[in-house]
Amino acid sequence: MVEPILKWAGGKRQILDAIKESLPPKEDVNRYHEPFVGGGALFFDTAPHPPGSTINDINTRLISFYKVVDERPKELIQKLRDFKPPNATPDPNREYSDEDWNGGEVDNYYYQQRELFNRRPRGEDFDKVEEAALLLYLNRTCYNGLYRENNSGEFNVPIGRHSSANWVMADRIRQASKVLSDIEMFNEDFNYIKKNAKSGDLVYFDPPYEPVSRSSSFVEYHHSAFGTEQQERLRDTALELARNDVWVVISNSPPMEELYDVFDEFIIHDIGAKRQINSVASDRDEVQEIIVTNVPENNRREKLKKLDSWMEPEA
Ligand SMILES: C[S@@+](CC[C@H](N)C(=O)[O-])C[C@H]1O[C@@H](n2cnc3c(N)ncnc32)[C@H](O)[C@@H]1O
Repeated sequence: MVEPILKWAGGKRQILDAIKESLPPKEDVNRYHEPFVGGGALFFDTAPHPPGSTINDINTRLISFYKVVDERPKELIQKLRDFKPPNATPDPNREYSDEDWNGGEVDNYYYQQRELFNRRPRGEDFDKVEEAALLLYLNRTCYNGLYRENNSGEFNVPIGRHSSANWVMADRIRQASKVLSDIEMFNEDFNYIKKNAKSGDLVYFDPPYEPVSRSSSFVEYHHSAFGTEQQERLRDTALELARNDVWVVISNSPPMEELYDVFDEFIIHDIGAKRQINSVASDRDEVQEIIVTNVPENNRREKLKKLDSWMEPEA
């Protein structure tokens, strides 16, 4: 087990135990694949993985980051050691030390680094170690520690409140580097998996979605960036894999249940918790997520009996 390095929107740390309980036993799995890897909470927690396992994400900078962690961990750690605290004055020897690209004022070191990160070319011709170091530094020092981009693909999170944040993370980088050394990495649409998963492999799909209340409808969900068409494409891919004897585990939002429940291949489990929605303890909304899988209940890593007890009891 290894700790993830990045904090990622939609990260699965909170429901990790429930997901792990739905996996087939390790000895029944050939290779592991994660087509929407993000921060890779499950990937790192269940590491190491057999050679030939794969991770993928459509975010180019994220996959480039993992390649640097894999291939150049020492240089990455060294570069991170050179960064200053986010509230420090901007570095006068670098660009954007007083004005950003739009002529706005750059108040401190954090906003200078954010501007350097956003203005980097997206082609091949730049220092990948520096870009990876900037990504991790911003992830650790930004508000709420999440990676988020605007519609133009720019990282737009403001400075965080904790100027004492630790962004070097040398041990985690070294451990992650070892785990990634046998892993193939892709920067494609999730459908790359059709060519890569073989019978006996395990694929964990964690597409972008918001945990919503059980009463939300599939129709309301259409407005998300990963909308109906993408969700249906994902279902078709999962079905094709399941019919080829690949183990499939998907986390998703409850309205997606109707895409899967008509197929005998899949079992659907509710996971989640009653969460307090205001200061009155009895006002709790059932924010839930679902797990869709073809792993039979009598062949689970830690039998699903625990899933029910995982649900937080009502107040
Ligand atoms: C919910 S996040 C995954 C979170 C991850 N499980 C974790 O623990 O941090 C979804 C990821 O899917 C990626 N993504 C969105 N559309 C995609 C697509 N069509 N193909 C592959 N990846 C995609 C996003 O960049 C994002 O990193």
